Amino acid sequence: MAEEKETTRMGRPVTDIDRAFNVQVRCVVVITTKSGQKLNGMSAAWVSRASEQPFLVMASVYKKNYSHDLIQSSRIFAVNYLQEGQQKLAIHFGKQSGREVEKFRKVPYFTERTGAPILKDCLAYLDCRVIDQMDSGDHTIFLGEVQSGKVIAPGRGLQFELKDYLNASASPDGP
Ligand SMILES: Cc1cc2nc3c(=O)[nH]c(=O)nc-3n(C[C@H](O)[C@H](O)[C@H](O)COP(=O)(O)O)c2cc1C
Repeated sequence: MAEEKETTRMGRPVTDIDRAFNVQVRCVVVITTKSGQKLNGMSAAWVSRASEQPFLVMASVYKKNYSHDLIQSSRIFAVNYLQEGQQKLAIHFGKQSGREVEKFRKVPYFTERTGAPILKDCLAYLDCRVIDQMDSGDHTIFLGEVQSGKVIAPGRGLQFELKDYLNASASPDGP
């Protein structure tokens, strides 16, 4: 079997600097939004708590993602923390674009304060309004003020492991 080549999500080879960044333990979330009638979500690992008073969270979103345009116009997003074992859902939201597929066609959700869809099947959520954004190279950092948030299931967060998203089984149509 051919050896799997390690590449980043932008498709370039993984470097020593990427490996150094990757020692940081991170949870996988789905960042969801609604702009007009359009619902969408994308997987993300570059998300962090940013303030306690008020509650702020920052999400780093690649400028070419469809979600980027939608969050830019709607000014809302929800952070949905996935649970251990939900890699398939992370692949569903993280390995295809809402420009081509309707990712919410079969995914149950509800809404809270902002109207951004919240996955019924997740560990916890933060429903946010964008209060600021910052240019960050090929990404934009959206700063969200948390309007409501809750743990909705028992369990542990899904930790990001590069190997989970590398091979053929990590495609949305994978086994
Ligand atoms: C586990 C995982 C983590 C990811 N983390 C991020 C992230 O932090 N920021 C980002 O912009 N894209 C991230 N991505 C890539 C997006 O989820 C992916 O490009 C997605 O298809 C974008 O969908 P959209 O075009 O519908 O917005 C991640 C993907 C995976 C599988």
